[in-house]
Amino acid sequence: MEIRRVGVIGAGQMGNGIAHVFAQSGYDVVLHDVSEAAMEKALEIITANMDRQVSRGRLSAEDRDTALARISLERDLAALGQTDLVIEAATEREELKHKIFAALVPHLAPHTILTSNTSSISITRLASGTDRPERFMGFHFMNPVPVMQLVELIRGIATDEPTYNTLVEVVKRIGKTASSAEDFPAFIVNRILVPMINEAVYTLYEGVGTVASIDHALKLGANHPMGPLELADFIGLDTCLAIMNVLHEGLADTKYRPCPLLVKYVEAGWLGRKTKRGFYDYR
Ligand code: CAA
Repeated sequence: MEIRRVGVIGAGQMGNGIAHVFAQSGYDVVLHDVSEAAMEKALEIITANMDRQVSRGRLSAEDRDTALARISLERDLAALGQTDLVIEAATEREELKHKIFAALVPHLAPHTILTSNTSSISITRLASGTDRPERFMGFHFMNPVPVMQLVELIRGIATDEPTYNTLVEVVKRIGKTASSAEDFPAFIVNRILVPMINEAVYTLYEGVGTVASIDHALKLGANHPMGPLELADFIGLDTCLAIMNVLHEGLADTKYRPCPLLVKYVEAGWLGRKTKRGFYDYR
């Protein structure tokens, strides 16, 4: 099936990166958010990121202008009715995602493939609340989307082969590499990455190291581009906690217990870079 027009729901850090990559790869993109301000901010970020690509000689000014012209901002979900593929990248809250799909589905053409960029929630459960579980998949991008090579593809129990094969082709066209994961809590990347971050928070909580020494140790001792606490701030501590909760509940194993310090930071509203305060102070 040919995909030409793509809908992206949510103009946050994942949504704007996804819109950027698809527009630059020749797709028409409809970016939807309930907040006009969030959509305008997303377009500013996309423009700034493309400008940087131009200044580094990785993109021509003409291609930047063409890509930006492919993005339309729409507050009305009905505008996604004429798309071939929808990628939901709203906040990582299951009830919110169900609500969005319920409002969206009546507008969709029958052929439209529906996907979620969820980092941990069951694809089978999200799909079952829609009219098209066979054309529903997990389509999980990594942050920052324009930079990271990997996309996880997750089939729900009912996902059909044509849908899977279509997304494999889409991943190639956007210049990324797919990794397929089964539909278990947090799939592959976050099943491994986020417990490591949680363990780094325990290491801090128990006084084994300081924020600086923990990050320094993993950067220099394991060649990680960012230390785990810096990475937690980058991902968002609320997202890290949401993923730990999904693992803890979904796998019913105490080894996934969220660190109380992580819980406390989230309760304080210290969510990392996006609130200018997390394990580091960005003010
Ligand atoms: N958007 C677009 N481009 C960005 C960017 C952003 N937010 N941040 C950095 N870049 C680009 C820069 O422009 C630069 O591009 P050029 O090579 O063209 O100059 C390139 O990325 C490298 O950036 P920098 O030189 O500024 O900095 P760096 O070398 O320290 O790299 C990084 C920055 C790529 C973010 C690197 O630190 C890194 O790889 N960190 C780990 C990221 C990671 O692990 N992501 C996965 C998170 S988990 C996830 O996303 C899944 C989930 O569900 C939670």
